[in-house]
Amino acid sequence: MTQPNLSLADRATQVLNTADGVEKTALSRRHAADWQASRAGTHAPIEIGTAKPPLHPARPEHPVLLSPRDVPKRKPGTPAGRIALLHAVAHIELNAVDLHWDIIARFSHVPMPMGFFDDWVKAADEESKHFNLICDCLHRLDSHYGALPAHHGMWRAAEDTADDLMGRLAVVPMVLEARGLDVTPGMIEIFRKAKLPQVTETLDIIYAEEVSHVAYGSKWFHFLCGREDCDPKETFHRLVRRYFHSTLKPPFNEEKRAEAGIPPDFYWPLTEDWPMTGR
Ligand SMILES: [Fe+2]
Ligand SMILES: [Fe+2]
Repeated sequence: MTQPNLSLADRATQVLNTADGVEKTALSRRHAADWQASRAGTHAPIEIGTAKPPLHPARPEHPVLLSPRDVPKRKPGTPAGRIALLHAVAHIELNAVDLHWDIIARFSHVPMPMGFFDDWVKAADEESKHFNLICDCLHRLDSHYGALPAHHGMWRAAEDTADDLMGRLAVVPMVLEARGLDVTPGMIEIFRKAKLPQVTETLDIIYAEEVSHVAYGSKWFHFLCGREDCDPKETFHRLVRRYFHSTLKPPFNEEKRAEAGIPPDFYWPLTEDWPMTGR
């Protein structure tokens, strides 16, 4: 049952407080549809509002969450390894649903153009679809989300940047989601070799749509740099060094990163061997 008068920030918080993945993504998609209808004038107007989102989103009892070093290593050449890889992707997608609603709820007090909210609602809707598509792939392989352990480190970036919108944009879409652009072609190849077309078609959809999530990050990061009169590249380097607890790992998907509005001089200086890489 949707509540037409609920603000966008309250709707975002509802999604964050829903534990079950299927229920979370269904609610996420309903709220996204309502928001888009309200923006098109076919639904009562929804105000942005403000909310108190939880520091951690609600999570189902399964999967068991382990520290990254305790999650068993996977060999993608085996059926069990491919299931483990898809399970890890499902976990990333579910976290991404929460990350996109969290940026809306947590920073709803910051005055931003409506397009900012349109973008993150659309991204959250797409992540919800991605989670469900990957769950369908897991079912086809006789598994399901929750059947294996997953790693618990994924919310750290959100916690670290809970008070810093520019830091959030730098680390979540422009570092973590951009990393997805680097690794997805290799994953598609693994499932192509395994002759699993349902999986490759799903990963093709995810790959195409993730470019726009990274682009939203870059767009709003540059918007805020312009508003605060700071240099985007220097600010990006400062914020990533502050909030991201590692170096960036090549190889990079330079073409898709460029398409998403992230030039090489943003990420190469954050690699371990810089300036030895000679870029
Ligand atoms: Fe996704
Ligand atoms: Fe995404």
